[in-house]
Amino acid sequence: MALKNDLILRAARGEKVERTPVWLMRQAGRILPEYRAVRSKMGGFKELVETPEFACEVTIQPVDILGVDAAIIFSDILVIPEAMGLPYQMMEAKGPWFEKTVQTASDISNLKIAQPSDLHYVMDAIALTKKELNGRVPLIGFAGAPWTIFAYMIEGSGSKTFSKAKKFLYTEPVLAHQLLQKITDSTINYLKGQIVAGADMLQLFDSWAGVLSPEQYNEFALKYIAQICDAITEVPFTVFAKDAHFARREMGKLNCTSIGLDWTVDIAESREMIGNSKTLQGNMDPCLLYADKATIKKEAEKMLRAFGPQRHIANLGHGLYPDLDKDKVKYFVEVVKEFRF
Ligand code: CP3
Repeated sequence: MALKNDLILRAARGEKVERTPVWLMRQAGRILPEYRAVRSKMGGFKELVETPEFACEVTIQPVDILGVDAAIIFSDILVIPEAMGLPYQMMEAKGPWFEKTVQTASDISNLKIAQPSDLHYVMDAIALTKKELNGRVPLIGFAGAPWTIFAYMIEGSGSKTFSKAKKFLYTEPVLAHQLLQKITDSTINYLKGQIVAGADMLQLFDSWAGVLSPEQYNEFALKYIAQICDAITEVPFTVFAKDAHFARREMGKLNCTSIGLDWTVDIAESREMIGNSKTLQGNMDPCLLYADKATIKKEAEKMLRAFGPQRHIANLGHGLYPDLDKDKVKYFVEVVKEFRF
């Protein structure tokens, strides 16, 4: 199926584009009343993720409603720990929670390396969504980066500091590397499976990069991200490490097409650090979308000019917040789509 809109793929590969493509992290979700309607029919978040028909429906909603240039498959990064042997629950208003966590060498040896068949519901959702999208826009698949997945597996829930996970790095570095390698191998299998199922592009989320020092980030995070980048060569691939300003120069050396930036970094400085061989994605502060429309337009256009006409995928610097107004979100997408250099 030939894509009718392949702007994002061309931008990622550094090919010429007529305008800057745009999508938004967390575009499928609670900002859309249409999502909340589907969600309320379901037993819970996990049921939605694990039922391909529903995952497909909410994946396509932002394409119809917001007019974004890509869909991202509705799932969660926590499906990998579950496939490795640590089931999660999504607690209402609290976030993820794991009954079992990893603490010892035997906990690590008991974990399996995930195979695409362990996550057949994601593969089925991708295949169905590709069919339903009918070539309108590319479909993005994703996974969590090894360090972020490790952090949830040790901690067992979200955390402000991830101090238990960091303690493990300092006290059990050999075990930490064993676990990170198992997560990496699982993630490569999982992403390869997503490509086979039909994903046109992939993104890695390292949401908790910012709690590590630059040295720790090289040793416990980037090394594994590099393995994943080296293994994924079939489709454009974005690495988004939140708050990893200190790692930008190193990230420029990764074997990926694109690097996601959050709003805390200067755009020109990031370009200089990362180099010209990568597409940059980002990096509007999601809180801008609480502002009035004139401010949204002014700031969005300023961002577009700072990135320039090529090698940029417009996005936020992190996910949409659930209480943002859908009309403002849609307006941001429109401003990007209407802008010409
Ligand atoms: O639209 C999209 O971006 C696709 C879907 C998507 C979800 N999670 C759905 C979701 C994606 C790409 C993710 C990734 C994810 N999940 C990350 C990395 C991105 C980031 O935000 O840093 C992380 C850290 C998680 C783990 C996670 N999932 C947490 C901490 C939470 C609770 C906080 C929250 O936002 O509610 C979730 C739940 C979650 N994942 C929801 C959605 C739509 C909300 C659940 C609901 O509808 O009740």
